[in-house]
Amino acid sequence: MTASAGGLGTVYLVGAGPGDPELLTLRAHRLLRQCDALVHDSLVPRALLELVPEGCERHFVGKRRGHHSVPQQSTNAVLVELAQRHRVIVRLKGGDPFLFGRGGEEAAYLAAHGVPVQVVPGVTAGIAAPAYAGIPVTHRRAGSSVTFVTGHEEIDRGRPGVDWRGLARCSDGLVIYMGLHNLAHICEELIAGGLAGATPAAVIQQGTVRGQRQLVATLADLAERVEAEEVVSPAIVVIGEVVAHRVPSCAPTPADAEMPIPF
Ligand SMILES: C[S@@+](CC[C@H](N)C(=O)[O-])C[C@H]1O[C@@H](n2cnc3c(N)ncnc32)[C@H](O)[C@@H]1O
Repeated sequence: MTASAGGLGTVYLVGAGPGDPELLTLRAHRLLRQCDALVHDSLVPRALLELVPEGCERHFVGKRRGHHSVPQQSTNAVLVELAQRHRVIVRLKGGDPFLFGRGGEEAAYLAAHGVPVQVVPGVTAGIAAPAYAGIPVTHRRAGSSVTFVTGHEEIDRGRPGVDWRGLARCSDGLVIYMGLHNLAHICEELIAGGLAGATPAAVIQQGTVRGQRQLVATLADLAERVEAEEVVSPAIVVIGEVVAHRVPSCAPTPADAEMPIPF
């Protein structure tokens, strides 16, 4: 379907969920089945790419081995260009588009260029990956707050730094995205901020899909264990008493689906 005469198509910023294709929302499924163009990056379940109609124009804008990711500006330009030619454009993102997914930047860019844009929330990895390890990210006996935080700040200098010592004092639980690279530093800072070394901690690698592994440790030995056991990205780190409240038997079996490991 082409964009209506004189008009522009709509770009849907769609959350693909964390990996298990069954965690896709009904709305996302409907849009994938009817889209004219699909723009996706690396952390998107492969099975979902098969849902689009034959003839759908596909663009990959993620990282490839040995290459940088497609710059955000190019992705923005691709989306505007597609909106000039098509009616329904799905911009598919891992997890939820507005949680560490640059969905906010893309929405603002499209809106500023007069392109109709709608967000379709998805199941975020920070909740689903712990759940598939039986870890609830909040628990009444483990405090009242949880913080979703990126550990990627050292690499992504465009972002203000995280006050890890402050978080140690003010958040009962932490769910850390992209935290592996910087994990030793993060754990040291949290301990320096007052968190006990004995605080329960966990890492879930490739949550919800084939290849899921989880490791339960303490804050003091987490970084060492992650290195020794060769945990790799994508992974979610959970720190706090919630980890002690895990119920392994409630964890769903990870889907027999592939989650590409980002390069
Ligand atoms: C750029 S962020 C995108 C987060 C995404 N928007 C979301 O809501 O889940 C990518 C990071 O999410 C986490 N992540 C995504 N999928 C994951 C999975 N299936 N298992 C564990 N961590 C995952 C990892 O920390 C990864 O480095």
